[in-house]
Amino acid sequence: IQCLYLARHGQTEFNLRGRIGGDPPLTATGRAQALALAAHLRDKPIEWVFTSTRIRSHETATPLLTERPEAHAMAFKEFDEIWAGDCEGMLYSEIRERMPEVTQGRNACKYTYTYPNGESYALLRERVQRGLRRALFLAGDAPLIIVGHQAINRVLLSLFLRQRNEDVPFIYIPQNQYYHISLTPRRKVFERVPYDGGR
Ligand code: G3H
Repeated sequence: IQCLYLARHGQTEFNLRGRIGGDPPLTATGRAQALALAAHLRDKPIEWVFTSTRIRSHETATPLLTERPEAHAMAFKEFDEIWAGDCEGMLYSEIRERMPEVTQGRNACKYTYTYPNGESYALLRERVQRGLRRALFLAGDAPLIIVGHQAINRVLLSLFLRQRNEDVPFIYIPQNQYYHISLTPRRKVFERVPYDGGR
């Protein structure tokens, strides 16, 4: 049996403003979401906590780890958010105005579109798959949580759900719900669990 929790980092100022990438910390709402996530998972026997190398992922995992001093914590670059290259740190509205070819390219095929000097979802899939393999190897049968990012979690879910590639960039990844994935040789169970009445 493999039991895996998949959470997205809490709210940041970048999320509020529609700014992509970067390394922003959580807002007060984001910190409250992190506390609510930890409280909700309090009774779950999570032994491994995987994050990206980004501040927002660390800050979201901190309350979980504080409650579980015996848990293993690992930060994987493989779980860092999709790299937007020349568009890192820009507002979506700025990209639309200053680099319309990016918006057009993404609108035409968001899965295969590669940001200038950055990544596509197709490329991202390869590194996320590498990260997942490493995480599952380390955790073995022990329950684990990955505190990822929107694009990362889309790809992770698609690896379990085998979604069509073109649908992957549109999977719903809220910041106040986590996915619980439980795999046995006979069945796969996916639940989306709300842990916070907030955003
Ligand atoms: O900053 C990246 C976003 O979380 C990914 O979202 O691919 O829908 O723009 P997007």
